[in-house]
Amino acid sequence: MQVVVVGSGAREHALAWHVRQSPGLTELHAAPGNPGIAAIGRCHPVRADDADGLLSLALTLDADLVVIGPEGPLVAGIADVLRRNGIAVFGPSAAAAQIEGSKRFAKDVLRAAGVPTAETLPVARPPCVVKADGLASGKGVFVCRTTEEVDDALHAVTALGAEFVVEELLDGEEVSLFALSDGKRLVPMGAAQDFKRIGEGDTGPNTGGMGAYSPVPWFEGADELVKQVHQPVIDELARRGTPFVGCLFAGLMITPDGPKVLEFNARFGDPETQVLLPRLEGDLLELLHAAALGDLSGVAPSLSGDAAVTVVLAGPDYPARSDYAGAPITGLAAAAATGALVFHGGTAVRDGTVVTNGGRILSVTGTGTTVEAARGHAYAAVELLSFAGAQFRRDIAAVAGG
Ligand code: AMP
Ligand code: GLY
Repeated sequence: MQVVVVGSGAREHALAWHVRQSPGLTELHAAPGNPGIAAIGRCHPVRADDADGLLSLALTLDADLVVIGPEGPLVAGIADVLRRNGIAVFGPSAAAAQIEGSKRFAKDVLRAAGVPTAETLPVARPPCVVKADGLASGKGVFVCRTTEEVDDALHAVTALGAEFVVEELLDGEEVSLFALSDGKRLVPMGAAQDFKRIGEGDTGPNTGGMGAYSPVPWFEGADELVKQVHQPVIDELARRGTPFVGCLFAGLMITPDGPKVLEFNARFGDPETQVLLPRLEGDLLELLHAAALGDLSGVAPSLSGDAAVTVVLAGPDYPARSDYAGAPITGLAAAAATGALVFHGGTAVRDGTVVTNGGRILSVTGTGTTVEAARGHAYAAVELLSFAGAQFRRDIAAVAGG
């Protein structure tokens, strides 16, 4: 199979790395990819949001499957453009991706599907959560415990120029729960916990994610929960005539009243993918292709009992800025020699040297028989890596939740 992975982050590197191991692969391509992916496949200078460029690349390569990583291109309808031209795509249509692209749409679907979620509130009064309606790269959600925080949140969403929703503030532990769908059927893809804040001890602003681990030892019944949370949503989207094909990612809060949905995403998580895929036994490409062709009935993912921990190395001004460019990265070969997986998130090659180029620069995954062992492995590799101004959290998976 000729496969094109769309995107340029560590999630896409992890997807490409696993697809690369598939016996069904003939050629691996990426658009635009990154230097990590370039070491295992061919990168093409086509942006992830360039629909015409991606279509002509897929046609030229005679691609058998296009795997779309990030939410932006999905919400923008890139999968629709490719499908209309006869290309198999892993990733939902623009209509189905609204489950991530619009908080209001998601609430409406959740209500219709009868899935537990935070109550919508008529007015913004503390404690509450104010959410901009559209995609905001993690910057559109404001958890408000004081009147002052509510005022700030309302100013911020107004400045974003967006519609917004107000909901009940939920307390508990957060878990990311994944399933692949062919539009009707689902197969569970495991759970992970993500560390969203920039600072140790979960302090400071939210980020895309500074690290993750999987499995989540205290979180039981993940596969059962997919039937209660993901399946009704898949059924409701199919009923509306907009079936969801791709990875459906539920952000859950495990509250004293049981699990409740915080949000749905229409794609794999970043950095969760960097801990789920190292645990995946068997053929990722077969799974993605079966979902894209609309028939997951004969396949099921199998995750090993081993654990994986990933630590993100970010630029010095992340998350305020995601454009830290040009600092040479050292230790890549030494880190890889430990057996750790070094996924490139924001890198470039300049004069033959790998340099920083983004916000979340690298995602370093260690594996082991326990979360603790995987954590030791990941940090041992992190210690070998460096670039000027690198910041990372030293407490990823230190307390494995609960
Ligand atoms: P979202 O993009 O909706 O997942 O929100 C981003 C983050 O905001 C979540 O991962 C939670 O940490 C927090 N959050 C969102 N909604 C709620 C809620 N109803 N109660 C408490 N925290 C929330
Ligand atoms: N790590 C959370 C996300 O991918 O949205």
